[in-house]
Amino acid sequence: MTPVKVLFVCLGNICRSPTAHGVFQQQVIEAGLGDIIQVESCGTGNWHSGESPDRRAAAAALKRGYDLSSLRARQVQREDFDRFHYILAMDRQNLAELEQMCPGAYSGELTLFLDYGNSAINEVPDPYYGEGDGFERVLDLVEEASQQLLQHIQQTHY
Ligand code: 4NP
Repeated sequence: MTPVKVLFVCLGNICRSPTAHGVFQQQVIEAGLGDIIQVESCGTGNWHSGESPDRRAAAAALKRGYDLSSLRARQVQREDFDRFHYILAMDRQNLAELEQMCPGAYSGELTLFLDYGNSAINEVPDPYYGEGDGFERVLDLVEEASQQLLQHIQQTHY
């Protein structure tokens, strides 16, 4: 079976997209699809390239059982459009940057990640400069959208 490749994209690749990476990866493994759905994440910016996820994001994720410690930030590159079937942006600014880079012949799906959720909003709010429960909110939105995405991929590809 040809693997389905999913790329989550935010701005810095240290808060939202690594959270989506870790959560979706775990759901994929629990569904027994670890060999056929491949997951990565990246950022549209390069300020944090090579860094581990933000400590607050990693701690919030770990409390729910998601280990983000092996992830390292990288910037999106044009070759990603050759490799990934799903390129999922956390907010409209990320999506606009990706659309500018996207080759006209891209045959995959470039969209907002929360298009897969049932929530009333379709952007994952950036928790980086915020206080309080921003990281919990990210996890709530990401967990829900990940389930829907997994269902969609199972129905569409397998
Ligand atoms: P992320 O959050 O895009 O969810 O990783 C941010 C991380 C870093 C910055 C902005 C947002 N920053 O400006 O450095």
